[in-house]
Amino acid sequence: MAEDLKIVTDVSKEEQYRSLIPQIQALISGEPDQVANLANIAAALKEQFSWFWVGFYLVKNGELVLGPFQGPVACTRIQKGKGVCGASWQRAETLIVPDVEEFPGHIACAAASRSEIVLPLFKGGEVIGVLDVDSEYLSHFNEVDAKYLKEIINLLDV
Ligand code: SME
Repeated sequence: MAEDLKIVTDVSKEEQYRSLIPQIQALISGEPDQVANLANIAAALKEQFSWFWVGFYLVKNGELVLGPFQGPVACTRIQKGKGVCGASWQRAETLIVPDVEEFPGHIACAAASRSEIVLPLFKGGEVIGVLDVDSEYLSHFNEVDAKYLKEIINLLDV
């Protein structure tokens, strides 16, 4: 496909996701390289939503290691159970954190980050990484984000 995204603004968050998802599907379909696909997903999400930070951590040798992302430089390694990312990995569930200061053990890669959503990536029932999105606004993420971000990571053939 052409590498230009069509970005929609002034519509609901649902509509923004619905416009973006088929474009992400077209971008990654037929491409077997995981890093390439994770990189394009992070870039597409950043371009549509202008979030503070969006990217992936991948499980490597028993810890989460920073993968493709968009935003400021971030912590490179996260232990299982640590921070929101490590907790999402350990619990194998999506975590929505309206105020990171109220999440015990939150890892502040950037002081500007106020709220966060983390979704696990599964392969054969195992968590093989997480998608992490950070916002500089409190309570920025809700079940709508959880639903559509899950749809997006389900497009990955990981
Ligand atoms: N805040 C995350 C760490 C990753 S960065 O925000 C990019 C956490 O608590 O797991």
